[in-house]
Amino acid sequence: MSVAVTEDVQLDYSALSRTIRALTEGETEDVALMATVVCEVHHADSRFDWTGFYRVTGPEMLKIGPYQGGHGCLQIPFSRGVCGAAARERSVQLVADVHSFPDHIACASSTRSEIVIPVFNATGELIAVFDIDSDQPAAFTQRDADGLSAILREVFAT
Ligand code: SME
Repeated sequence: MSVAVTEDVQLDYSALSRTIRALTEGETEDVALMATVVCEVHHADSRFDWTGFYRVTGPEMLKIGPYQGGHGCLQIPFSRGVCGAAARERSVQLVADVHSFPDHIACASSTRSEIVIPVFNATGELIAVFDIDSDQPAAFTQRDADGLSAILREVFAT
């Protein structure tokens, strides 16, 4: 009797970083950089069902930027949602169960877990948050937070 073996194949963040670095070499415009990061990250892992940026467009205000996946809400004040918490607290939000996160904003009813990472420029200014939703519960780990944060630092803060 054959035994099903499920291999826990982890996303290779070093390889993903090399790909993004090659694709964005010489580019300095934030929206072009964001569009490239979103495309490569989104298609790198089947856990990622919505991938996108929310840009800081005014005091305490986030507005949607480049994304992949279903329709995303257009604007989020810093006072609301997982994205607002990441912007307000300037820290990674690792949400294993979105239904237990106070004031989670559901752009899709299928979302079960989420990671949101603040994005800083070279002067340490918050310019955006990077949001990934998954339809799988507890889809994200600290390894994802570290790997994605390193890519975002390399693209936007160096
Ligand atoms: N879930 C986010 C809102 C953005 S949609 O997921 C694309 C939040 O609670 O801030």
